[in-house]
Amino acid sequence: MDFNSTIAIIGGGNIGMSIAEGLVNAQKYKPEQIIITRKKSDLPKDLHEGGFTFQEDNADAVSKARIVVLSVVPHVYEPILEGMKHAFTEQHTLITVVTGVEIARFQEAIQKDICIARVMPNTAIKIRQSMTCIATNKPKSKEFAEVTELFNMLGETLYIDEELMLSATALGSCGIAYFLRAIRAASQGGTQIGFHADEAQLIAAQTAKGAAELLLQLHTHPEDEIDKVTTPRGITIAGLNEMEHNGLSSAFIKGIVKSYDKAINKEE
Ligand SMILES: NC(=O)c1ccc[n+]([C@@H]2O[C@H](COP(=O)([O-])OP(=O)(O)OC[C@H]3O[C@@H](n4cnc5c(N)ncnc54)[C@H](OP(=O)(O)O)[C@@H]3O)[C@@H](O)[C@H]2O)c1
Repeated sequence: MDFNSTIAIIGGGNIGMSIAEGLVNAQKYKPEQIIITRKKSDLPKDLHEGGFTFQEDNADAVSKARIVVLSVVPHVYEPILEGMKHAFTEQHTLITVVTGVEIARFQEAIQKDICIARVMPNTAIKIRQSMTCIATNKPKSKEFAEVTELFNMLGETLYIDEELMLSATALGSCGIAYFLRAIRAASQGGTQIGFHADEAQLIAAQTAKGAAELLLQLHTHPEDEIDKVTTPRGITIAGLNEMEHNGLSSAFIKGIVKSYDKAINKEE
């Protein structure tokens, strides 16, 4: 295995595996260039899953890969970092997905002057459609440019101040669940008015995708696009106002603030 062209993903769970699959889909890495660690790598299905190399030894994985992605849950990261910090050299770049843990904590543990990027993607990274917010200790370095390029292959990126990382978690990372639930709710409405569940889901999901693409491609404001659909005394405004009377916008805002508050309290 060539150190420079190998990437290690420490913690091959939901987001770690999604990143691995996204990188392969982007043809940035071949599966054999990706080492994935798990607490238990000896399950038969894991051994051959996607052609990746699975193992349990985190320090060994770090020693074999120039770029290391840390994607374990916050409550286990301390012993994992402790067990692998000695394997980092000046050549490494560390990308951390761990929610709520600051870059300074990794710097302090590793004690090497390396680029550390703290990223907050969502699970659409698997199909290269993530929204990924990124912060770093070395914004002008070529290593950070490389990290940004990597995540640009996996969707959209936005460089943010690290202090906004928990806000990015609530809006972008948790956000995918909110929009999925909105699509599910629309599908249920669709079924009640006559569509089979699969047809209702297709109509709801493609309509949601179209709405998002209008904003992303035309850079218009949502209300301008809504105005084009809501004819006076029409059926769209009747439905939309009914949703608002039942707290649609308020529910989204309150939910996002609730997730953010929970993220903040976890960090304390
Ligand atoms: N899920 C998301 O959408 C998302 C989005 C952005 C950020 N994040 C953040 O990303 C991190 C991971 O989240 P997740 O949802 O992917 O969690 P997860 O599915 O529970 O995955 C965690 C992985 O870490 C592995 N692990 C545990 N102990 C380990 C050890 N000692 N050595 C190596 N690997 C070990 C687990 O292995 P086993 O499978 O063997 O137990 C598991 O595969 C969290 O900090 C989360 O907040 C998640």
